[in-house]
Amino acid sequence: MSLQQILSQRFSTRAFKDQPIEPKLLKEVFQHAQLSPSNCNVQPWQVYVVSGQEKETLKQSFMKALMSGAKPSPEFDWTPQYQGIHRERQFGSANALYTSMGIAREDKQARQMAMARNWQFFDAPHVAFFTMEKYLNIMGAVDLGIYAQTLSLLLEEQGISSCMQGALGQFPEPVKQQLNIPEERGILFGMSFGYAAEGAPANKTRTEREPLENAVHFLGRNHLKSNNNV
Ligand SMILES: Cc1cc2nc3c(=O)[nH]c(=O)nc-3n(C[C@H](O)[C@H](O)[C@H](O)COP(=O)(O)O)c2cc1C
Repeated sequence: MSLQQILSQRFSTRAFKDQPIEPKLLKEVFQHAQLSPSNCNVQPWQVYVVSGQEKETLKQSFMKALMSGAKPSPEFDWTPQYQGIHRERQFGSANALYTSMGIAREDKQARQMAMARNWQFFDAPHVAFFTMEKYLNIMGAVDLGIYAQTLSLLLEEQGISSCMQGALGQFPEPVKQQLNIPEERGILFGMSFGYAAEGAPANKTRTEREPLENAVHFLGRNHLKSNNNV
């Protein structure tokens, strides 16, 4: 499968089969993801992959935190509120998900339940937490983002689906405690992954992208020339 095909077939998957990935394959994929580039090759990612009973226990802890009304307390700055066109796209992606799940806009409870699925890992057999030392801040966040996308494409190449989740960094306490993550290391975000449950309503969600000219600015004569050949 070409990279272009992988990119066009990938989408954020939010319903999974109860089928763990064969351990050898799992390790191979993470081995290849180690080839991700990073600023000055510092490789700041420390990744925790959680499966089986360990994952179930974590899910229970998350549910307990949610039920107790715990407020999100991320270790990195997720506070900016999207504005303007970004806010529109944010609503657009939420609408796409709720529409495919048959959830009405005004049904707050159903929306909250759908949101809570994040901390149940959408029933995926595996979840990865992307962590790094807190002092790295935005420098490390860039590297972790690149790492996560590399991982997601490598998984997709093997027919394994995933969903990146900022939500998984919102309640760090239970995760850090259970996985023994040192205090100085923070959870930036996470990713649930496994084999997609085909036909599940949530997996019918598709999002759109802006036309190229709204995102990429080609400058200089050569670009104009080669553009005409496309
Ligand atoms: C850094 C990052 C964090 C995300 N966090 C969440 C999340 O917490 N929950 C969720 O359901 N989707 C999450 N997503 C998935 C995005 O909503 C999704 O990538 C976007 O809507 C585009 O859709 P697509 O991935 O299907 O192409 C996240 C994606 C990224 C890259």
